[in-house]
Amino acid sequence: MLSVAHKPVLLKETIAALSVQPGGRYIDCTLGDGGHALAILEQSTPGGQLLGIDADPAAIRRATDHLSKYRDSVLIVQGNFADLDTICQRYSFAPVHGVLLDLGLSSEQLDEDPRGFSFQRDAELDMRFDPAQETTAADIINNSSETELALILREFGEEPYARRIARRIGQVRPIKTTMELAKVVEQAVGGRHGKIHPATRTFQALRIAVNRELENLETALGKAVEVLGTGGRLVVISYHSLEDRIVKHFTQRESRDCICPPNIPVCDCGHTASLRVVNKKIIIPSEEEIRDNPRSRSAKMRVAEKIERSTRADTRARTRFSQN
Ligand SMILES: C[S@@+](CC[C@H](N)C(=O)[O-])C[C@H]1O[C@@H](n2cnc3c(N)ncnc32)[C@H](O)[C@@H]1O
Repeated sequence: MLSVAHKPVLLKETIAALSVQPGGRYIDCTLGDGGHALAILEQSTPGGQLLGIDADPAAIRRATDHLSKYRDSVLIVQGNFADLDTICQRYSFAPVHGVLLDLGLSSEQLDEDPRGFSFQRDAELDMRFDPAQETTAADIINNSSETELALILREFGEEPYARRIARRIGQVRPIKTTMELAKVVEQAVGGRHGKIHPATRTFQALRIAVNRELENLETALGKAVEVLGTGGRLVVISYHSLEDRIVKHFTQRESRDCICPPNIPVCDCGHTASLRVVNKKIIIPSEEEIRDNPRSRSAKMRVAEKIERSTRADTRARTRFSQN
């Protein structure tokens, strides 16, 4: 398959949302090929600094090359964004003016990588962003019970045929390659039903499970708020509803002074808002961007700004009764 160089998604919108300024300090938690990072560095010159993180050593190599012009302003770290706080501590890189998470996969990983992220290319079922991690997609496919498999497919792929696919996998395994798995899924669901390939959801679910993507995202969001300075921006681009839901709930919760359940008459949660939601409506790519880069079509961007936490004196006084 022809390789398509990764085109950074919502690039102009990202730079505007991060409010990139000369001399600012930014963290790109998903460095990938360094497309967004390069634009951040260009815009923050002179004096700007960028910490770029990626779990994938191959992405780190590509980004290091791509950002070589800015080698004095950029710090590149192979690691998991779930460890954002420890990485920032290790390099004394906080507080910062902006944190970016551009989730999912780069075009290189999808088209070129031999780790089996796509069923368009025959490869072993690996799917680890970080090859040092233990569990591979083959381990999950071949060692999980059918019930566990069905749960993974339903929870992480929103796959309506989860049980049928899991049963079929149980009957024919071991399954070693992407093509084998894609064929098994196609057989299980009785061929193609709509526009998307029947294995699309299975592959998404497996990748999410292998890399603990939703868990890591939840953790990283909390840590991003910790490392942002007041007025700093959190920008997240997600590519499917499971990710977007996590980002939406997180920013909604963190922008409220009380997160008590609705049936509690007097607020006792002790929670204070740490964020202000900047864009009430999600930002999506223009038709022009989608034409130019069809892979951007599912992108959704959410933006929030770190605020000074309020003192609880005023919020404690606010009871559920007074809100009604
Ligand atoms: C969509 S790509 C980013 C592309 C990048 N913005 C660019 O313009 O080139 C997402 C990247 O996030 C990385 N990634 C995914 N989960 C990660 C995690 N938990 N920690 C660190 N990097 C992760 C992937 O390896 C991939 O390179």
